Amino acid sequence: MTMQAHEIRQKFLDFFREKGHLIVPSAPMVLKNDPTLMFTNSGMAQFKDFFLGHDTPPAPRIADTQKCLRVTGKHNDLEDVGHDTYHHTMFEMLGNWSFGDYFKKEAIAWSWELLTEVYQLPPERLYATVFEGDATENLAPDTEALELWKQYLPEDQILFGNKKDNFWEMGETGPCGPCSEIHIDLRPEAERQVKPGRELVNQDNPLVIEIWNNVFMQFERRADKSLRPLPAQHVDTGMGFERLCMAIQGKTSNYDTDVFQPLIQDVAQKQGCATARPTKPTSPCG
Ligand code: GLY
Repeated sequence: MTMQAHEIRQKFLDFFREKGHLIVPSAPMVLKNDPTLMFTNSGMAQFKDFFLGHDTPPAPRIADTQKCLRVTGKHNDLEDVGHDTYHHTMFEMLGNWSFGDYFKKEAIAWSWELLTEVYQLPPERLYATVFEGDATENLAPDTEALELWKQYLPEDQILFGNKKDNFWEMGETGPCGPCSEIHIDLRPEAERQVKPGRELVNQDNPLVIEIWNNVFMQFERRADKSLRPLPAQHVDTGMGFERLCMAIQGKTSNYDTDVFQPLIQDVAQKQGCATARPTKPTSPCG
């Protein structure tokens, strides 16, 4: 039976609780006391001071589901909203954090375990990207993440990515670091045979999409654009809840999941019109 959205969310929180994480509530979306960010744009925003070493977290491992708004600043999705099936102004981001505790090995291992064992997503449809490095910033390729991914994925399902896609920064200033994204190919099998998913990763294909980002926080971007190494190394992950539901429920649009359908159907009924959206699984993962 298809896993419902509330079960998907709960399984995420239970998984990381079992791995020793403290579960905390979503922070408010409107930020106070941070002139660098107007709205919470990611799960890590409420933890910024812990990364920078200005404050101490209540636990070295935390997980939550955070309501995010991406309508302004560095991570602004407004241009895509309404034009595609997988960007939203407001969305929910599932995240797990390590504050100077575990690092790449555990973060990657647990991502894999959760996606393939708990959520049962097909491994052959998953792709990982790792940072290719950037000479202008004196940043080396992330060969450590590459080697770790090789334990789980064949090499043709691992790709190098540039600073735009694989070096995550909270805003113009603030904590940042190389990241490793996980993408899923939701296209029908026949299409996959014609064109491998690796050619469509980060190419704006609505059925080959990023679902989870693992950031390895190691730097602070300063106002003068320089990178200052942080006092400790941290993990910051963000998984798009609505996209994850689309993948697990076998849909081809976030709007066809039970995150949105009850609302859409209710509005349609109140307006006296039928909706054309399919309600049965339409992608191969469901
Ligand atoms: N903070 C990680 C992300 O939003 O992708």
